Amino acid sequence: MKVSTSLAALAALLPFAMAQSPVWGQCGGIGWTGPTTCTSGNVCTEYSSYYSQCIPSSQAPSTIPTTPASPPTTPASPPSTTASAPGGTATGLNAKAKSAGKLYFGSATDNSELTDTAYVAILDNNSEFGQLTPANSMKWDATEPSQGTFTFSGGDQIANLAKSNGQLLRGHNCVWYNQLPSWVTSTSWTSSELLSVVQTHCSTIVSHYKDAWDVINEPFNDDGTFRTDVFYTVTGTQYITTALQAARAADPNAKLYINDYNIESTGAKATAMLNLVKQLKSAGVPVDGVGLQCHFIVGEVPTSLQSVMQQFTALGVEVAITELDIRMTLPETQALLTQQQKDYQSVVAACMAVEGCVGITVWDYTDKYSWVPSTFSGQGDACPWDSNLQKKPAYTGIMTAL
Ligand SMILES: *[C@@H]1O[C@H](CO)[C@@H](O)[C@H](O)[C@H]1NC(C)=O
Repeated sequence: MKVSTSLAALAALLPFAMAQSPVWGQCGGIGWTGPTTCTSGNVCTEYSSYYSQCIPSSQAPSTIPTTPASPPTTPASPPSTTASAPGGTATGLNAKAKSAGKLYFGSATDNSELTDTAYVAILDNNSEFGQLTPANSMKWDATEPSQGTFTFSGGDQIANLAKSNGQLLRGHNCVWYNQLPSWVTSTSWTSSELLSVVQTHCSTIVSHYKDAWDVINEPFNDDGTFRTDVFYTVTGTQYITTALQAARAADPNAKLYINDYNIESTGAKATAMLNLVKQLKSAGVPVDGVGLQCHFIVGEVPTSLQSVMQQFTALGVEVAITELDIRMTLPETQALLTQQQKDYQSVVAACMAVEGCVGITVWDYTDKYSWVPSTFSGQGDACPWDSNLQKKPAYTGIMTAL
């Protein structure tokens, strides 16, 4: 009869109406349409107007106003174990970034590095790093080496490490021209076949890993034209739409990014990225953020970094510095280290000056595991820790800016 049907319908709706975000899930922010309360034992904590997150009550930073979850937590909670100390005395990059209103300070890492216990001890330190990006193990060749066969073991190792450290995870990446298995590059696809391949790949990996994703990586050439990889050649720009829509359907809460380099200063490539974001947004395609990689050279940090970030956030997306390092021509000198300190400081200061810049990730924290020497001949020492895992002047530069 009518009444019981309505009750059943209402009961069916209740789990959605009352949905709460789990620990580390998003619970608010500009554009957020999901739950605004947290499951028991967690509090919804606002990091910026773009992002609020459910964090364990025992770890709630005392310097950030929190909204109590229901039921209210007891005053008997253990004292804060994270990093934010009250009164601006936070030690560590992540602690300081969070107490200054950012979501995280993070690092890239790679599976082969995780047997180095001295390295991992620093990576695990939540005062220093609140976010991890896997350098390689979530790329296409690692996750779908043959069509329809997914392997998560490498990515899971880093995802599990982040989870056990209370760190956010950045998936990297769904669609990129490089590190593709040959079945992707050497098949003669029709457009609809390749779009289906992109759809399957992105929806599978984005539903497996949460938080944020570089859904599209490096779509542009330096002159602002689209890179003519297999995706663009076969589908035009349709692969971008398909990948973003697949990612959103797979995880409505993940922050979906387009990530690139040489978009950190005004010019053709930044303009192309601005236009792409504008077009996607006006077409209703889900895009939440732009990642500025920031692989810089000592003494050559672009002065327009802050204004470029502001141009992106003015379009209604957040930005993040996703792959920061600042390399020098070797050998290292005191003058170069001092300039590098200033350069790190000015990059981080640019993010601090832009509310919608949510966080900063270094492309590994130590010179011991930097990609630079093997990629740029004669260059290196690009990271804030040296190859003996000691902090460099660059570390002080970052702390000063935070
Ligand atoms: C974590 O890093 C902070 C900041 O450098 C430091 O004060 C603290 O001793 C470190 N904790 C551990 C367990 O190493």
